[in-house]
Amino acid sequence: MCGIVGFTGNRPAAQILIDGLKRLEYRGYDSAGITLAGKELITVKAVGKVRNLEAAVNEHGTLPNTTGIAHTRWATHGAPSVKNAHPHMDSSGRFAVVHNGIIENYAELKQKLEQQGHKFVSDTDSEVIPNLIAEFYQGDFVQAVASALRRISGTYGIAVLCSDYPDTIIAARHGSPIVVGLGDDCNIVASDVTPLAAYTRKVIYLDDGDLAILSPKNVELRTIENLPVEREVSSIDWDVSASGKGSYEHFMLKEIFEQPDSIANTIRGRLDHHLKSAILSGLGLSPHELAKISRIVIAGCGTSLHAGMVGEYFFEDIASIPTEVEQAAEFRYRNPIIDPDTLVLPISQSGETADTLAAVREAMNKGAIVAALCNVVGSTIAREAGRGIYLHAGPEISVASTKAFTCQVTVLLMLALMLGRNRRLNRDDGERLMLEIEKLPELIRETLKQAPVIEKIAEKYAYAEDFFYIGRGCLYPTALEGALKLKEISYIHAEGYHAAELKHGPIALLDEKVPVLALANAIPGQEKMIGNIQECLARKSSVIAVVTGDDTAADQFTGDIIRVPPSSRFIAPLTTVVALQLFAYYFARARGCEIDHPRNLAKSVTVE
Ligand code: F6R
Repeated sequence: MCGIVGFTGNRPAAQILIDGLKRLEYRGYDSAGITLAGKELITVKAVGKVRNLEAAVNEHGTLPNTTGIAHTRWATHGAPSVKNAHPHMDSSGRFAVVHNGIIENYAELKQKLEQQGHKFVSDTDSEVIPNLIAEFYQGDFVQAVASALRRISGTYGIAVLCSDYPDTIIAARHGSPIVVGLGDDCNIVASDVTPLAAYTRKVIYLDDGDLAILSPKNVELRTIENLPVEREVSSIDWDVSASGKGSYEHFMLKEIFEQPDSIANTIRGRLDHHLKSAILSGLGLSPHELAKISRIVIAGCGTSLHAGMVGEYFFEDIASIPTEVEQAAEFRYRNPIIDPDTLVLPISQSGETADTLAAVREAMNKGAIVAALCNVVGSTIAREAGRGIYLHAGPEISVASTKAFTCQVTVLLMLALMLGRNRRLNRDDGERLMLEIEKLPELIRETLKQAPVIEKIAEKYAYAEDFFYIGRGCLYPTALEGALKLKEISYIHAEGYHAAELKHGPIALLDEKVPVLALANAIPGQEKMIGNIQECLARKSSVIAVVTGDDTAADQFTGDIIRVPPSSRFIAPLTTVVALQLFAYYFARARGCEIDHPRNLAKSVTVE
């Protein structure tokens, strides 16, 4: 969602901030803005892409200011517009604030501030922050920010400038991430590490209630009670080049093709040939504690939820542990039954999704064993859960998640293997599964060779305005994920259904204009799927079939066939989803859609 970057150093800040915003573009946004510090604050804003802001900033000529803050906004309160874009100023023009999150008591604060003479120009909740700071200001910048924040309820990650302190940025966090980068002769702050990696490897993740006071040579940490505090310095462990597009046309395509490597990284060092099991040390659970787990509850949103639904099949089938998957937003409102032997697995690529974070807090409060599956190291969910399994997928920039999904499913499969071996799964079956997991990067590489075939089929069907995806067993959530990818980036209506469920209603929608993508892999249930395909053909739908290897089962129905390499049913969701990701990508490209930044979507959804 919204992105923050701030820089203070000994060189002009404007271009550094613009470059930082470009690295945050992947989060999804609709407008952007920048404020440069000095005796007078200079603010420039633009609707649309960061390049529009860059052009507007360039109209000011060379700007020597060496301290500034910048923001990309994803609208919540008020439409995308210049007046609603950040940074927001107080009515005297002394303070500028960029804000991620939602101020819940903004209406009440705004009314009071208006009575005290402050003028508001935007429709946002954020504009109360600079005015509240101004209200408390008596010459001490830190004191004023701390006092203001103590009055705010809701969530925030902020960076603030004050014209009386031209080389200082104050950043603070409550529920919305802020990371401080410690550079040489400069310090940087941002809402995630992506803009920092070009300047430093040394970072500090603020905790809720922390304030950071940055100047070119110093970073001081305090609490919002204005007491000194110390936080650990961590290091960024990925390469800056990993967050570039390389020779690919889009990040999404790059990330699809990275999957053999990202899965290899997920697996590396985690399979135990001696025990025929997996070692997932981040769980911090002894074999005895693992054996006591009587139930698993998985919580996640969107693609991560679909990964969890695949995982449910793994845990029940491989480890015989009753498993439920919960949309994370429902988790705490359903008052779930959790006991001390329940393992709760929140799944989140970003580790910042508000609903999943709320589920983590609820589960921890109920005394569950909570182990998070996150990709972003140091993210809020990873830190709050305290235990978990990192995906090691590398930075995922495309808003449509691809490699994170396959790494999530791979982790779930390794966890099922480990829990299975800890119970009734014998050494031979354990070994068979372990060897299949080891072969995964190779199988994904094989699947990617189908790209030219998939591209042709996608172009042929790019006319469609509606699509159905059908699957059975663990290919049912795979169908849901395939349909989600298509709707996200091509803006057409695509629905995933259990193949058997189609005839209980949705079949009414099928006709010659509505194609069906059927996951007809050679796994248990295939004959039934062939029957379901017949039902679709009888309603005049065209069918695209995903099949295993040179299986001829679908040849009689369609010439549009995507072949994935032979594997067991546990591996099929992974190979199949890669084919579906490619299909969605080429389909959206054929329709001329903006693939990496789909409209209305944000990479990290930090509001409930
Ligand atoms: C879809 C997609 C979203 C996310 C969802 C959860 O391509 O990316 O559906 O999966 O917003 O995000 P995380 O995994 O970061 O919690």
